[in-house]
Amino acid sequence: MTENISVLLDEKRVFKPSKDFVNQTNVKQWMDQHNIKTYDDLLKKAEDWKWFWGEMAKDVVEFYTPYKQVIEWNEPFAKWFTGAKYNIVHDAIDKHVTTWRKNKVAIIFEGEPGDVRKLTYNDLYIQVNKLANALKELGIKKGDRVGIYLPMIPELPIAMLACAKIGAIHSVVFSGFSATAFRDRANDCEVKLVITCDSFYRRGKKVPLKTQADDACKETPSVKNMIVYQRTGDQVNWTAGRDHWWHEITKDKPSTCPTEQLDANDNLYFLYTSGTTGKPKGIIHAHAGYAVGIAQTLKWVFDIKDQDVYWCAADIGWVTGHSYIAYAPFILGATQIIYEGAPDWPNPDRWWDIIEKYGVSVFYTSPTSVRLFMRHGEDWPKKHDLTSLRLLGSVGEPINPEAWIWYYKNIGGERCQIMDTWWQTETGHFVISPLPITPIKPGSATKPLPGMAAAVYDDKGIQVKDGGGSLVLMHPWPGMLRGIYKNPERYKETYWGRFKGVYLAGDVARVDADGYFWIQGRADDVLKISGHRIGNSEVESALVSHPLVAEAAVIGKPHEEKGESITSFVVLKKGVEPTEALKKELRDHVAKEMGKLARPDEIWFVTDVPKTRSGKIMRRVIRAKALGQEVGDTSTLANPESVDEIGKAK
Ligand code: WT7
Repeated sequence: MTENISVLLDEKRVFKPSKDFVNQTNVKQWMDQHNIKTYDDLLKKAEDWKWFWGEMAKDVVEFYTPYKQVIEWNEPFAKWFTGAKYNIVHDAIDKHVTTWRKNKVAIIFEGEPGDVRKLTYNDLYIQVNKLANALKELGIKKGDRVGIYLPMIPELPIAMLACAKIGAIHSVVFSGFSATAFRDRANDCEVKLVITCDSFYRRGKKVPLKTQADDACKETPSVKNMIVYQRTGDQVNWTAGRDHWWHEITKDKPSTCPTEQLDANDNLYFLYTSGTTGKPKGIIHAHAGYAVGIAQTLKWVFDIKDQDVYWCAADIGWVTGHSYIAYAPFILGATQIIYEGAPDWPNPDRWWDIIEKYGVSVFYTSPTSVRLFMRHGEDWPKKHDLTSLRLLGSVGEPINPEAWIWYYKNIGGERCQIMDTWWQTETGHFVISPLPITPIKPGSATKPLPGMAAAVYDDKGIQVKDGGGSLVLMHPWPGMLRGIYKNPERYKETYWGRFKGVYLAGDVARVDADGYFWIQGRADDVLKISGHRIGNSEVESALVSHPLVAEAAVIGKPHEEKGESITSFVVLKKGVEPTEALKKELRDHVAKEMGKLARPDEIWFVTDVPKTRSGKIMRRVIRAKALGQEVGDTSTLANPESVDEIGKAK
């Protein structure tokens, strides 16, 4: 990545949006109302960020009772829009059914086998209410945790909204994660109820999600009930007394349900993400600040208007889908696509077919998907009329120039600006990203959005003006995480403990002389596999949980399509024979423990892994050696000989 970025830094090409386009954008309209002439003036004006977010709140949300203060900042703990009564579901659903949008299509769903369902805002309203009533009947109350383990079907956002409606906290686990991963997350936040489905379609096969949920729930004592949506009609095992069919339990429920008027800072959800330890962190997000942040950024960055057909092709199991599928598009009253299956199934033009069929105008995906399609070649998008598109987006990792150009040409038809949005599970919404009025340098996420501030710090905490270092955010922002569940200390240390008064993002970045940011990747031991975060130590723990493994060290290697691939060095227990069959078994073991996404691409058997005297695995040394780079100082190693062995594993 570093090489690409330096190439681009030399590149003088800046992509400027046309005047006509700019004049029609939401952001320009707001600027006109406030007598702001240029992009730079807008950023300047929004430096008064408390004022700015107060204005934005007026624009995108409706409080039940007004707030007293935009923010109460008790570093590092923030409360936004204090004093207000609020519920995100009012903005996402309730407010629409009293307007013309009542019968507007909210979701166009396409299943992998080709089945299509269109749900209006009123349909959503009724389904959310019925499910909320069912949850209440099963004893779910404000503050209770509900585990959601569902694929990309409309019932996933419906389930989330139903929880939020009654003030319950959802914890969604990606349907591609394993039973064990679901169990660990469900146990960490002690979910009382699980919402899942019988099975779902992926690459022409059926994934037995209920069976996985059953496996997980063997060891989740807090779970008292399970609601099962029937997606495929597959036969499933049934635990009488615990399990309830979605269609049965919602059938006779009223289609209205009061929306709980919460405190603006009540918790909305926990979402687990990988950090540097073996245990994922439960990131906490709250109602009102989050709602303002996601809705405003979607409205400005992707310029969402009523006539748009918006498609964020991420999975709701990750934060991208939480913010920009399950909540923000609904707050804006948008029409959006939800597609269940694999992107290249049955052919590599499935996505382009969907864009053409429904006239998608705004499309948001990841560099890793772009690279997947690049590999299949430009003939596939060429088969389709993609002229409905007007804006494109990218997220998850830095977009390399080749992928940028391919996306710009073959999908955007050289008409559509690419919004390269930098953000994190922790930030809740875009932080560094162009607006449609921003001149773009391909490969750069450009500048912090209005009302947000970022900088690059050197090791001493001194701001770097034209160069590289640690990416930090300079003041709170509305969608910021409120903490790590059950671990305020870890929250303080990880994000606010490194440099005084600023948030440490965990990324390495460069800032150029024009103030454009070039994100280079994670600074910590977190892998980015197809744009998804996987902790090195999580994969190591999974490997070590196999009875024949004594120790494991995991590193990421650059990978053409996935961005990074997982390479592991494994020390077997004494007397165990290192065979190819065992390698396969270990790879499958990790997939079973964590999910296929974390399956190691390579496994090497070694007799020892480089460690410090205190026993800390030196992943930096291992990575350098494995990639044939300079290893640097190894004097702190307890076992320097082990480095040579890594070098032989090629
Ligand atoms: C990490 C956060 C936020 C939704 C998806 C990922 C990397 C994210 C970009 C981008 C370069 C990016 C960073 C960040 N990242 N977007 N546009 N350019 N890098 O959420 O799993 O919490 O991962 O993804 O490294 O720290 P996440």
